[in-house]
Amino acid sequence: MKNIGSKPQLPLLLAALLLNTLSPASASAQTTTTSPKTTTHTPPVRVSLEQDNDWWKTAVFYEIYPRSFQDSNGDGIGDLNGITERLDYLKALGIDAIWISPMYPSPQVDFGYDISNYEDVDPQYGTLKDFDRLVAEAKKRNIRIVLDAVMNHTSDKHPWFIESSSSRTNPKQDWYVWVDGKGPDGKQPPNNWISEFGHSAWQWDPKRNQLYYHKFYIQQPDLNWRNPAVEKAMFDTLRFWMDRGVSGFRLDAIPTLFEDPQLRDAAPIGGTNAYGDPKLDPSLTDNLPEVHDVLKRMRKVINEYPGRMLIGETYLPNITELSKMYGPNHDELQLPMDMNLGITNKLDASIFRQKINEAETQLDANTALFVFDNHDNPRIAARYGDGVHDDAIEKMLATVLFTTKAAALMYYGDEIGMPTTPPTRVEDVKDPIGRTGWPKEKGRDGERTPMQWDASKDAGFSTANQTWLPAAPNYKTINVKAEQADPNSMLNWYKKLIALRKTNPALHSGNFTMLNPDDPNVLSYERASSSGKVVVACNFTAQPQKISLTGDSGRKAHILAASGGNQPATINLNEVELPPFGSIVAAVE
Ligand code: GLC
Repeated sequence: MKNIGSKPQLPLLLAALLLNTLSPASASAQTTTTSPKTTTHTPPVRVSLEQDNDWWKTAVFYEIYPRSFQDSNGDGIGDLNGITERLDYLKALGIDAIWISPMYPSPQVDFGYDISNYEDVDPQYGTLKDFDRLVAEAKKRNIRIVLDAVMNHTSDKHPWFIESSSSRTNPKQDWYVWVDGKGPDGKQPPNNWISEFGHSAWQWDPKRNQLYYHKFYIQQPDLNWRNPAVEKAMFDTLRFWMDRGVSGFRLDAIPTLFEDPQLRDAAPIGGTNAYGDPKLDPSLTDNLPEVHDVLKRMRKVINEYPGRMLIGETYLPNITELSKMYGPNHDELQLPMDMNLGITNKLDASIFRQKINEAETQLDANTALFVFDNHDNPRIAARYGDGVHDDAIEKMLATVLFTTKAAALMYYGDEIGMPTTPPTRVEDVKDPIGRTGWPKEKGRDGERTPMQWDASKDAGFSTANQTWLPAAPNYKTINVKAEQADPNSMLNWYKKLIALRKTNPALHSGNFTMLNPDDPNVLSYERASSSGKVVVACNFTAQPQKISLTGDSGRKAHILAASGGNQPATINLNEVELPPFGSIVAAVE
């Protein structure tokens, strides 16, 4: 990735260099010395993990796909000890919590999202002892651990499913969604529902002589959440991990727990998916109201442990549905992901403004969680880049992610501008949907390639001869080591923004006001606390933009951080000039 036109002024450049060389604790303190104004701000006091029950409200979460982050034992697959080895790096980056995608025992059909034991670690990733060490080492660095809770389905190799499928009379016979077949052979699906991953969502089981429902892969049978025993077993797994010190969970596919009990056919909505199936109205299989009853009871379990929280994987159609996920009395999820902003895939200031406004005004004073990237979607540049200004676009989007009032969730490798590298031949595809959907759907391997640490073999990810996925070809230039040494790098931009968010009271927890609400090109807003005001402006176009910021017109501001090109140390808010896809964060004088 090229660093296009990003030349910060000298004091910022020095600050970036300092951030690289100082210890993490002194690095964030040092950032405040880069501008005379911020030295007067008192940084928020960091409290220990136990004391701060609201830590998640301002947190930066960092998603780690454990298979791809760091391999510590040379088998070509990342592991928990690898994550522990890299905690100092994460501390220096400034993140508050790591969400680890599933690392439980699993046949790995869906790379961990098919779980065969909820209370252990897959030997590929280590042991429970390794996990405990990771939690303890992370805690020393004030980093919390969040686990993925996959509750909609298990693996078909889970003992619960094996028992459930063994007969129609066993004690777990009602733990999954079983139905009698239709048609002359009695084996045909009861309705037209299709799996997220292609073709019928029903699978014939010859042992039970019935079909079971699977929202995702055939090897991921859906649990029957209408059975209280299922809920109890799942809630116990949450307690198991909270007892080991985890700070919360990211609830996988949580809106899909329930299906229409009458199993009615879903209405076609026109068109076909990548697998050639007709697209269907999801309202009979997604986001049923029963989910909220479960979430309220789950929240009570979480509340048994101070300072823990629930994130939701909540792809929902609109802000009203998202708002419901918090619960009518703030008694469901603390942080359902706002996918309406991050996966818009359209670089349009008006759309971003509208979505941020909705999150500000229509979530009943709950905290939004913004997410621009994850392990299921092509990375940021592939969705928002124009092939010319990708570096500036990624930096500008990072500005948005870290400077609103929302909690922020980033994906490993975003901070170095890692590319999406889809397989070029079907025989290389690891994610099964990439094989069934080839070439329309190449699967998710492209956004799961190994973390690029340095220019050595396998990008410093592993010493194996062959890694589970090859490192992206650009790892010799795009890697952590190279970017640590480059003050204009993506990595130093992320560090600077995260440090500002932590140390500047207005950015940390100040009020939010949208500025210039009708500007189609530049998104701008203000954060204000009793210690001062900060303005943020982001140019969403490939042309330079000259704007006058409403609210504080006539006043001056000094630049705390600027991307996309040079800025003078002090700017007049009447005449703000932004380079193509440039952004500024500036303290109002
Ligand atoms: C979620 C996960 C995805 C997984 C699916 C089934 O969407 O993010 O990776 O394949 O659930 O568990």
